[in-house]
Amino acid sequence: MRLSLWRRYSFPASHRLFRAEWSAEQNDRIFGKCANPYSHGHNYELEVAVTGPVDPATGMIANLADLDSFVQRKVLDAFDHAYMNEQIPEFRECVPTTENVCRVIFQRLAGFPRAHIEGVRIEETGKNSFEYAAPSNP
Ligand code: NI
Repeated sequence: MRLSLWRRYSFPASHRLFRAEWSAEQNDRIFGKCANPYSHGHNYELEVAVTGPVDPATGMIANLADLDSFVQRKVLDAFDHAYMNEQIPEFRECVPTTENVCRVIFQRLAGFPRAHIEGVRIEETGKNSFEYAAPSNP
């Protein structure tokens, strides 16, 4: 039997999709309005999945308070109201598409000591969501 816990968080953040080494025309062709130099924001909905044995004493995979404080410290403290291109070091050389935001957030959470981080899912808008699944499970 496999049991997962999904927990939902949200944070507003802004980004600009562009590559400095590309011309304005090329950025515009690839990224469209998302290359706007003044950036734009989203209310990101982040879901984090953890899995592992259910502790027979507590009946839990992981204590939500432990997960919440870990996500707060590793992700939300940095991402909440951030301009990701400049305030998140991982995006200094990497375009902050939501695909890449998924990957970066997963990497930041991978060391959770209480359970295995199975994946993260991020909803960028009502139409777009992205999921990063851990490469292998214990
Ligand atoms: Ni965007």
